[in-house]
Amino acid sequence: MIIRKSTREIELMRKAGEIVAGALNLAKRIAKKGVTTDFLNDELEKYVQERGGIPVFKGYRGYPKSICTSINEEVVHGIPGHRKLHNGDIIGVDIGVEYHKYVADAAITIPIGEISDEVKKLVEVCEEALHLAIKALHADVKLSEVSRAIQDFVEFNGFSVIREYTGHGIGRKMHEDPQVPNFVSKALLEADEILMPGTTLAIEPMICLGKPDTEVLPNKWTVVTKDRKPSAHFEHTVVVTNNSAEILTK
Ligand code: MF3
Ligand code: CO
Repeated sequence: MIIRKSTREIELMRKAGEIVAGALNLAKRIAKKGVTTDFLNDELEKYVQERGGIPVFKGYRGYPKSICTSINEEVVHGIPGHRKLHNGDIIGVDIGVEYHKYVADAAITIPIGEISDEVKKLVEVCEEALHLAIKALHADVKLSEVSRAIQDFVEFNGFSVIREYTGHGIGRKMHEDPQVPNFVSKALLEADEILMPGTTLAIEPMICLGKPDTEVLPNKWTVVTKDRKPSAHFEHTVVVTNNSAEILTK
């Protein structure tokens, strides 16, 4: 069941979202060649805590860190550690923050130094797909229209969308109904929902240069593409309004 939020609840999610957005801006400034993913984790964790936020990933089903850092063929849920960033890498940074009991969640993919033209296009198409999905949120919009906006644009550009992981409703908990797939399926059309004002969603296209099949590394978290080709990820938390949507993580 979709839990729609009151103005007061949205205000708290907006505050959580401001902290998320500020943390991701910090990541953009400090993610450089030679920097470890642990360093990013520690700096962003500090940033969030200094602003009264709680990093919600830490401890979620035993997840050990405050952010996810997913490099190149890693799709999502990369665990920060000693690995250093190299020229030509792309790194997805994903962070969720709780503020006065409400959660916001967002992610960006950051290029490190010079990246190849095709990987640059992958990253740009992923970010654009997210913005097209947000623009698709008009009055009486169906959930499947959001998914279709992402899938059509990504596939038109020659890339593929991940099937095994989706966006989600968000609010008091990081994961609420509905699931927000990045592709249209029969199951989605059969259970389609009209998204009413006050609905809060984390929309998160995860897209690939090669095939969209994934596997999980032995650390039980890190999702990688089976073909080990690169993948990009962008995410915003949004609230559906009367005839559009507001991004809460900016
Ligand atoms: N943005 C991710 C999600 O929506 C983050 C979860 S990572 C975890 O599921 F570590 F918290 F699991
Ligand atoms: Co999310």
